[in-house]
Order: sequence, then structure tokens, then C-alpha cells
Amino acid sequence: MTRKRVAVLISGRGSNMAALIEAARHPGYPAGIVLVVSNREAAPGLALARGAGVPTAVVDHRAFSTREAFDEAVEAHLLAAQVDLIAHAGFMRMQSDAFVTRWAGRQLNIHPSLLPSFKGLKPHQQALDAGVRISGCSVHFVTPELDGGPIVAQAAVPVVDGDTPESLEARILAAEHRLYPLALTLVATGRARLEG
Ligand code: GRF
Repeated sequence: MTRKRVAVLISGRGSNMAALIEAARHPGYPAGIVLVVSNREAAPGLALARGAGVPTAVVDHRAFSTREAFDEAVEAHLLAAQVDLIAHAGFMRMQSDAFVTRWAGRQLNIHPSLLPSFKGLKPHQQALDAGVRISGCSVHFVTPELDGGPIVAQAAVPVVDGDTPESLEARILAAEHRLYPLALTLVATGRARLEG
């Protein structure tokens, strides 16, 4: 089995990145995390990655005048590391359509709601405002529409009386850490793929 070479893109905490790194430590896992890229030098996830022995790169979006130029700088790191697949994990940058098209079917994102509900910012607050009794998380292929690409896998999580955005986030985050490694397995082994 050839393990797929995966880069994780982060902007912050990096707990989903850590879950992917942990899963990929197992020899039978079909992917290896070969690179972590952050657009923020101060992202706590960078220290986690370095502690796990994973190469890291920082590409500060503020140094680039266009989205395309930033994406190309990130892409230079991806190509140098011979990356097959990209996993967004709390990566807070929109990408240019050109980049998304080049990597179509090779980029995943995780979002803390049962898509297509509650796309975009503050999904936990959106779920509480809507009064749903079940929320969850979704891993999907990245397409130009924010949080709108084809869904690879989902996990359902109950909303309980008295939930705050923070308590719901914590419950969903635990499910994210189980779901993302499973979804990456599906894509890395070709059991899930983007068509058309
Ligand atoms: C997660 O809830 C993820 O679904 C969302 O941003 C958060 C990132 O958390 N896209 P972490 O950096 O992986 O801890």
C-alpha cells in the first residue's frame, strides 16, 4: 500500500490536525501527514505539529497582495513536499477559484455542523438559534462554495438542554476528532472520490 502524502492547513488550535497526525502514526493507516502549513505564525497547532515531528511552514497571508499570490506560495510548499491530498483543519482563509480547481477532489475540510445546515461562521450558535436537537460535523470536498462541497462523511451529535455554543462545540469537537481520520481514510483509499 502506498500511503497518500497529506498536508494539513491550519490557522489556530490544531486539535483536528493532531487527531490526523495521531491516526497516521499507525502503520496500517493509508495516509501520512508530511506537512503542516499555517497562515498564522502564532497558531498553537504549529507547536503541536513540531512536537510530533511533522515539518511545518508558515505563509503569512498579510505578506501577499492577492489571494492567488498567497495560494501560490502555499502551493510551492505543497509541491516541494510532494503532497497528494490537503486537509483543511480550522484554516480560516478562502482560496482562489484557480487553486480550488487545481486541487479539485484532493482537498477536504471539516465543518462543525451537519451540512448543508449552518455553513460559515458561528455554526454552533446557528444550531442553537435554530433549535435543532441534533447537530454534528461534516467532512466534505472543498469546492469554490464555502462549506458547500460534496459530503464525504458526517457524525451526529445531540444538542442538550442548557447547551451554550461552548458546550456544544466541545461535544462536536470530540466527534470531529473521530470523524476526520475516518473520512481521510475513505478518500486516501479511493472509496470516496469527487466525480464531475
Ligand atoms: C473545528 O471545529 C473545525 O470543524 C472548524 O474549525 C475548528 C478548528 O478546530 N473548521 P481545531 O483547530 O482543529 O482545534
